[in-house]
Amino acid sequence: MATTRILSTSPLVGPSLKALGEKYPALSVLPYRSEAWSREMESAEALIVLLSEPLGEKDIVRCPNLKAIGTYSVGTNHLPADFCEARGISIVNTPGVLTEATADLALALLLAVTRRIAEGEAMVRSGEWEGWQPDQLLGIGLCGKTCGILGSGPIGRAFARRARSLGMRPIFWDRDGQGRPVDYLSDGENQIVGPPARRLPLEDLLRQSDVLSLHCPLTEQTKGLLGKRELALLPKGAVVINAARGGILDEGETMAMLASNHLGGVGLDVYEGEPKLHPGWLAAPRTVLAPHLGSATAEARTAMAELLCSGIEKALGRTS
Ligand code: DGY
Repeated sequence: MATTRILSTSPLVGPSLKALGEKYPALSVLPYRSEAWSREMESAEALIVLLSEPLGEKDIVRCPNLKAIGTYSVGTNHLPADFCEARGISIVNTPGVLTEATADLALALLLAVTRRIAEGEAMVRSGEWEGWQPDQLLGIGLCGKTCGILGSGPIGRAFARRARSLGMRPIFWDRDGQGRPVDYLSDGENQIVGPPARRLPLEDLLRQSDVLSLHCPLTEQTKGLLGKRELALLPKGAVVINAARGGILDEGETMAMLASNHLGGVGLDVYEGEPKLHPGWLAAPRTVLAPHLGSATAEARTAMAELLCSGIEKALGRTS
């Protein structure tokens, strides 16, 4: 253990990485793709990276001792999963502990878009607010509307509970196909009552979704899932929220649909090519943009670090 090399690109949040370093003194923290990181990775048995730090097959072949790659995220689309599996390299991620935080963020975007919070805040701060007006910043009501959710995993189900609590009717699409209803009510701590939600083919779901919220991973199957044709199936005035991954939604087409008023609003936490932003977003109307904050609560990020570090220990063949 004294010589087991763990290389992390970040100290993470909370005490877990430091504690791991006490058990594995050869743990180092070096910036991603720095010269020292590139040198050290060649002797590493475990690498820890962030979701914004992709590793490719070329990196993996340079690490003959590698047993595990940890990512400080639930998403693993930045890692070559099949290539690692074929070489017996474990991928350790952080499912579960960020579910509620990410669903909260998606809800925050939905409410910010539909109630025009960013515009209102800018008006107040600019000193231009002249007082209450009957038609000032009218938004979109959510109660009684249908909420289409892409992905019936833990985050999609947690978002459905929030939608339901606002009086919306959740419906799901997922990669497993159609048929079985989704019981989203009974997991999580804040259980609510109601019937299970229908699982529909994508086109049927899109035609009914006053709100569309993305909660599926970015995979070969979901890349480019929502293009011009799919977005056009949404009812006029629909609101689209993406707190999953950029690349699932065609951003250029989404902007065009906003400009033509087909979409009533868009809330984004993730972007294709982030942190670079498609320049069109800066002037896009009825849009709220967040900087990939899905799991950004102190509680979630601390728990993610704990889960990740214990997963790395297990993968290195030692449980605490
Ligand atoms: C993750 O961890 O993959 C999510 O993007 C959190 O927002």
